[in-house]
Amino acid sequence: MSTGTLAIIIFLVILAQVAVVILLGLYRRKQQYKTLTNQASEVQTAPATELADPITSVEVVNSDQVWEGFKEFIVERREMEDNNQSICSFYLVPADGKPLPTFKPGQFLTFKLQIDDPISNKTKSVVRCYSLSDAPRPNYYRVSIKRVPAPTDQPDVPAGVSSNFFHDHLQQGSLLQVKAPSGHFHLMEQEPLPIVLIGGGIGITPMLSTLNTLLENGSNREVWLYYGIRNGDEHIMKQHLQALDEAHNNFHLHICYSAAKKNDMEGVDYQHSDRVGIPLLRATLKMMRYQFYICGPKPMMESLVPGLEEWGVNSDDIYYESFGPAALIKHVKTKLQPVTSEPCTISFSRSGKNIAWNPAFDSLLELAEDNGIDVDSGCRAGSCGSCQTAVSAGETEYNQQPDADVESGHCLLCISTPIGNITLEA
Ligand SMILES: Cc1cc2nc3c(=O)[nH]c(=O)nc-3n(C[C@H](O)[C@H](O)[C@H](O)COP(=O)(O)OP(=O)(O)OC[C@H]3O[C@@H](n4cnc5c(N)ncnc54)[C@H](O)[C@@H]3O)c2cc1C
Ligand code: FES
Repeated sequence: MSTGTLAIIIFLVILAQVAVVILLGLYRRKQQYKTLTNQASEVQTAPATELADPITSVEVVNSDQVWEGFKEFIVERREMEDNNQSICSFYLVPADGKPLPTFKPGQFLTFKLQIDDPISNKTKSVVRCYSLSDAPRPNYYRVSIKRVPAPTDQPDVPAGVSSNFFHDHLQQGSLLQVKAPSGHFHLMEQEPLPIVLIGGGIGITPMLSTLNTLLENGSNREVWLYYGIRNGDEHIMKQHLQALDEAHNNFHLHICYSAAKKNDMEGVDYQHSDRVGIPLLRATLKMMRYQFYICGPKPMMESLVPGLEEWGVNSDDIYYESFGPAALIKHVKTKLQPVTSEPCTISFSRSGKNIAWNPAFDSLLELAEDNGIDVDSGCRAGSCGSCQTAVSAGETEYNQQPDADVESGHCLLCISTPIGNITLEA
């Protein structure tokens, strides 16, 4: 046998070995994926108490302990979380000392605050929602709140009412009125697929709750966390996240600084000098099916949600939440029914006002407020339910899915627009 033939045979043998290793790898990954899929169907059929993945225990909400309306809580302690001193966690315990109902990670609490208005010298009721930022615990709830300043281009307007009230006036022992946990943006457990959590800025809070719950309960789901902030001064729960990363092989941490400071060290404090975007996800995620959970500022949501769909992710596998009306995603609006452009009249039966609909308004709430009609509101994002109003004639449509449960024959004015003439009981 010539040296050339021998070389060809050796080359072919090596090639065959490499092919076998690659095929074996692909087969193992397929099996792994199949196991996940099988677990999904088991979870769908098994009774809640016998589920294999411990995370499912949070599904079992003890309805006896869920309260109606607002309940009194005490601030047990508060803890500043970032170098900028702008995000503070509040640990809340029920004033009646009863055990707390569990919740689904990703859900939020609704607060009713009594705040003195320096302009009118009156106390006004302010309703706001804050995501639970820790796993369900029997003895406390935690929320982490970012102080909201006046917009940079309007420094003269008042700073955020509720967030600044929390930071400046709520100390250990302060009392708060709190609605039971709610919200439809939460961990989906019927299909335990690998999970990608994406939190931008304060949008990290529902992701922290989800992550802590999954890892503490020993879930075997693979979890990726992408946390986007400007630099180390905004970074919260740094040691906690690093410790989780070291302790759990199924957790993959990706911290992204978009404007790192001199003393921020890549590879130590953070992994990527970039925003969280589709190129980064494509470069770091394996080729498989995931559930994506996203919460962050408007530009992040507007680029990521459609970007994932363009990449080929099924829209049913993308879950997202915005923290306010400014964060409404145009993309979502177009997916729902288009806003009516036909001229129509809104009759407010209690106030006795008939007003022509102006499509320049984003919602019926804006129209009502602009015309001096007194309507309760809180989150202005379809979450707290404060603006729920009876519709006695005609139809409205939502420009985003409501998070609050809405009684039949009612609508949430903050995310509704009219379809033709309507009468509202306001
Ligand atoms: C489901 C959900 C979960 C949330 N979770 C969290 C969370 O975990 N952590 C968190 O920090 N936040 C969270 N939020 C956001 C939170 O509810 C509040 O929206 C946020 O704290 C701002 O409320 P605020 O009362 O402080 O500000 P607001 O008083 O509502 O003011 C908002 C902004 O408007 C400006 N402003 C005031 N008056 C005017 C004016 N006349 N003209 C123009 N601008 C004006 C203010 O300066 C401020 O910049 C969540 C929101 C939702 C809906
Ligand atoms: S103001 Fe909260 S649901 Fe409309």
